[in-house]
Amino acid sequence: AGVKGTETERTFIAVKPDGVHRGLVHKVIERFENRGYKLVGLKAVVPSRQLTEEHYADLKSKPFFKGLVDYMSNGEAPVIAMVWEGPDVIKQGRAMIGATNPLQSAPGTIRGEYCVSVGRNAIHGSDSFESAEKEISLWFGKAGELIDWKRSGSEWVI
Ligand code: TYD
Repeated sequence: AGVKGTETERTFIAVKPDGVHRGLVHKVIERFENRGYKLVGLKAVVPSRQLTEEHYADLKSKPFFKGLVDYMSNGEAPVIAMVWEGPDVIKQGRAMIGATNPLQSAPGTIRGEYCVSVGRNAIHGSDSFESAEKEISLWFGKAGELIDWKRSGSEWVI
């Protein structure tokens, strides 16, 4: 996940299938770009059940786990998987996304603006450096999928 606490910190952000269905991909990209973060990886994926189960391994014992895996991996719409880079991007990304339950997400956050249901909350973001490392290597395991580049004029933002 890049280098924690520096301008090269990285986080895994994914627009989930309901968010893709609803045409929210550009809203998510717009917010992270406007904030000054840098997109270093992007792809559309229909994740296998196995990938989804690994991604959400911490939640295996939860009653909603099977439904969550079904909806992520059924292919009705892809997941748009992204890696964003910049200062404090893991924590700031979570703040931009809002609380897990959209009914508790502050107005102005992504979930607080576009969602009402916890099972259809549109977007995922890594919740710690350790999760970001795990998730980035799980979704972007192949060499060359993440690009180091300089955002032109980035000295004005970062
Ligand atoms: P979690 O990792 O707790 O939240 P977050 O996505 O904010 O990191 O849960 C993962 C996903 O599981 C969550 O985005 C939606 C789903 N979920 C439910 O469907 N029902 C629930 O009661 C919870 C807590 C989560």
